[in-house]
Amino acid sequence: MEADRDMILSHPSQKKARVGRPALRLETERLILRAMTQDDVDAIYAIVGDPIAMQYYPRTFTRQDAVEAIERNLRRYAKDGYGLFAVVLKGSGKVIGDCGLTWQLADDTPMLELGYHLQREHWGHGYATEAARACMEYAFRELGAEKLVSIIFAENQPSRRVAERNGMRVERQVMHSGRPHLLYVITRENYGQA
Ligand SMILES: CC(C)(COP(=O)(O)OP(=O)(O)OC[C@H]1O[C@@H](n2cnc3c(N)ncnc32)[C@H](O)[C@@H]1OP(=O)(O)O)[C@@H](O)C(=O)NCCC(=O)NCCS
Repeated sequence: MEADRDMILSHPSQKKARVGRPALRLETERLILRAMTQDDVDAIYAIVGDPIAMQYYPRTFTRQDAVEAIERNLRRYAKDGYGLFAVVLKGSGKVIGDCGLTWQLADDTPMLELGYHLQREHWGHGYATEAARACMEYAFRELGAEKLVSIIFAENQPSRRVAERNGMRVERQVMHSGRPHLLYVITRENYGQA
């Protein structure tokens, strides 16, 4: 669930992370992360409409939900300069998922979250870890963020392993979207050592 925008935009931590120049394109060895467009709706729906990919979410989402999710990210790019980006596999040029930074509420506090979602056929190759690493680098080096979190349902072991491979550690349990989750955290200081 998206955090309340007015509350987030008035929060001091928001001002800090808005410092820095927008980057609507990041590149890694195997991936390009670029701004989403509505042309990506089928690629996003392939994830959010997949009951197995959504097994740790409250429900599976519709194609219209995917359209609205893209709209939310377009608004984030305009306001924050970042959001969830489309993840493109260089080899094929296809969008295989999304990864990026969004403001989310954990225990009613706005936090900058690193999130990732891949189409099931692309699991198991390290793409989420690689994309998340690029977003971490961007958050700490370009945006000057002090801390990043990932809010992960405890049973979602693949997502937890992505966070752990990138040096995030469980700080505590938090409430998010009305359900308990684990709060994975990495600080800028720890990132330098990861
Ligand atoms: C979370 C999610 C993106 C993780 O996908 P994933 O494919 O397991 O993660 P990665 O792409 O980083 O791949 C890592 C796996 O590939 C393996 N791998 C193979 N080649 C690799 C490489 N070159 N580099 C790194 N890992 C590699 C790793 O060993 C790892 O497998 P393991 O976890 O069994 O040890 C995926 O499960 C998903 O999209 N789930 C639905 C959405 C979701 O729940 N998102 C998170 C919300 S909190």
